[in-house]
Amino acid sequence: MTSLTIPSHPAKAWRPKLHYSARANWINDPNGLFYKDGIYHLYYQMNPDDSVWGNMHWGHAISPDLLHWEELPIALDAEPDGLGYAFSGGAVIDWNNTSGLGDGVNPPIIATFTQHSKEAVQVQSIAYSTDGGQRFVTYAGNPVIANPGIKDFRDPKVIWHAPTESWVLALVAGDRAQFYVSTNLREWTFASEFGASNGAHGGVWECPDLFPLTCADTGETRWILTISINPGGPNGGSAMQYFVGQFDGLVFTAEHTDTRWLDFGTDFYAGITWDGLQSSGDERIMIAWMSNWQYANKTPTESWRGAMSLPRRMALREVAGQYRVASEPHANLIQARQEKHEWVTPRRLIAGEAVSAGKLPAVAEILLTLQWSAETPVIELQLGNLHGEALTLVLDIGQGSMSLDRRQSGWDDEGFGRLINAELYSLEEGSANLRLFLDHCSLEVFVNDGLSCITSCCFPQAPYSQLQLQLRSGVLDSVAAHVFNLEH
Ligand code: FRU
Repeated sequence: MTSLTIPSHPAKAWRPKLHYSARANWINDPNGLFYKDGIYHLYYQMNPDDSVWGNMHWGHAISPDLLHWEELPIALDAEPDGLGYAFSGGAVIDWNNTSGLGDGVNPPIIATFTQHSKEAVQVQSIAYSTDGGQRFVTYAGNPVIANPGIKDFRDPKVIWHAPTESWVLALVAGDRAQFYVSTNLREWTFASEFGASNGAHGGVWECPDLFPLTCADTGETRWILTISINPGGPNGGSAMQYFVGQFDGLVFTAEHTDTRWLDFGTDFYAGITWDGLQSSGDERIMIAWMSNWQYANKTPTESWRGAMSLPRRMALREVAGQYRVASEPHANLIQARQEKHEWVTPRRLIAGEAVSAGKLPAVAEILLTLQWSAETPVIELQLGNLHGEALTLVLDIGQGSMSLDRRQSGWDDEGFGRLINAELYSLEEGSANLRLFLDHCSLEVFVNDGLSCITSCCFPQAPYSQLQLQLRSGVLDSVAAHVFNLEH
């Protein structure tokens, strides 16, 4: 009898189609995001020489739609013999040339970033571009914020604060956030510190962002401070927390004391939002690095390492009297849809029943809507392959929780396999909606319009081609599901 041999997976088969990854070498955090003249600019931490972290430069890619990316040459160099390597930060379009660094024709793009010296001293610097963001030149007056004697002092992100007509810079210092203000992007004055008694403190704080969001339901505006933390995430290692509150141009005040996570997954980190979209409806579009410092240097893709998350629109929603930030998959993702497969035409499902799909495409969007009335359901959704590897998502409606089990998902070194637990928030009783994006080396789960998210990497030996929905307990009065092929 011949046994079934299944060819093992070449590393290039993990290359995502919808998510940005560089042609070769190591990448981490997104940096300097700005949008101008119809182009989204994405910079990121890059090691041009190796596929492990080190020798940080800013790599660069551009996109007209956040779906198709073109990799460009490195935009910001390291200065190992000067102030140091180019660590993370943001960028703004200096429309009125407040910095005086423009060429008098086009507004300069000002990048704010950390320089990390060979001696590991971190200072804040700026660099300017007068060629539309292709090359950044470091400012001769750097650093613009000297190190005050704090080891972890980095990741400056700037916004224009219209009410006070000033630039506001958020950075992290140990496990606190600090705010600085300026009228010219070159001279900064310390304004305040936030965080001593707020949020999670299981690691250093990194990569802050600060922006207002208006809740479509109540019309109220709140300021959101997002903070990456490593380690100390809810499922180990790196994760993003956020605070909802007020910001008066100098001081941020949170309106809650509990810790709130933007995404419960292990692979959504260092996310920041685009500058330049504020004139078109104050959209805050975020992208994050899709990995975790616990294993980022060891993931099995080898010649290229690291990818970005899908772009997400941040939305403020009121849930049980509390404002929460939802992450909605960016509207342009709908353009990636190819054939539609009606997987489950609306039907009732009782405990123990299961429905399988035909073949699951390797790049897929899966949509489900669920309704129940009497018995709260426990729903299991499994993506699997012929090697017996699987990702298993369970929603326990009664408990208000969900989990993603990736212990049998494929590659499992460095403690990668684990059960990822999440809180489940909802706006309505008796119904739920799910949107999942599968793309070779990742699964992103958005529940109830992005109120609860799990982003997870996965490295199966062959793409997950099987999909099954099973009701573990309770009754679903109605379930409907379809799958889009996103491979083009
Ligand atoms: C976050 C981070 C930042 C730092 C950069 C270095 O992932 O640690 O705090 O600036 O990566 O690459």
